[in-house]
Amino acid sequence: MTKIRDNYSHIQIALHWLIVLLFVFNYIFGDGMNRIFDAHMEGKDIALWPGMTHVYVGVTMLVLVVIRLIVRRRMGVPAEAPNPREWMTVASTWTHRLLYVLMAFVPLAGMAAWFGGIDQFGEIHVLLMNALLIVSGIHAAAALYHHFIMKDGLLKRMWFKH
Ligand code: HEM
Ligand code: HEM
Repeated sequence: MTKIRDNYSHIQIALHWLIVLLFVFNYIFGDGMNRIFDAHMEGKDIALWPGMTHVYVGVTMLVLVVIRLIVRRRMGVPAEAPNPREWMTVASTWTHRLLYVLMAFVPLAGMAAWFGGIDQFGEIHVLLMNALLIVSGIHAAAALYHHFIMKDGLLKRMWFKH
């Protein structure tokens, strides 16, 4: 069982936003990866640095996700925010779990393709990446709905207190 604490710690908040930043960076600059990966598979390491930036930013994200899961286990998290309907709380818990799974498996599949030289993992990587994009979009929309429509100040839970 995960421990329940009053709020997210500063380290958890920093990790949340740093991971969002790396995810968005790799999404935007993932554009040329298709071609770079084909060249890499043929042993022609052209345009190496954009490819390596994508790979190492992604690997950094994976390391941060692992640290985040360890911190979560050690420090715990606040109880789910109050919801008017029980299904919303269940949906929130499972969305967070799914986000952690996808955050780990997107870079893992990318690594299997790049370092393992397994073509199919490139397709799986892109598939999982699109799933992460959709699920995190729903997640962000739900957070904004809480904050601005339900006016419960939810966003403040994921921001630094003075
Ligand atoms: C963790 C965040 C990551 C995100 C958001 C991400 C995103 C993307 C995107 C948007 C593409 C282009 C998809 C397309 O061509 O339509 C791509 C391709 C690719 N990425 Fe990543 N990536 C991440 C991590 C990684 C890591 C850690 C590696 C390898 C170590 C990697 C290796 C690749 C490879 C090999 C391709 C080409 C796949 C193919 O063309 O079949 N990615 N990624
Ligand atoms: C602008 C976009 C985003 C906003 C406004 C946002 C906001 C939030 C907020 C307010 C929470 C706390 C929820 C609560 O207290 O119950 C949270 C938690 C979380 N967010 Fe985001 N988020 C965004 C993007 C993302 C993205 C892109 C990811 C994944 C790549 C992500 C992953 C998570 C996870 C896994 C949690 C659960 C933390 C835990 O309890 O361990 N978020 N987010």
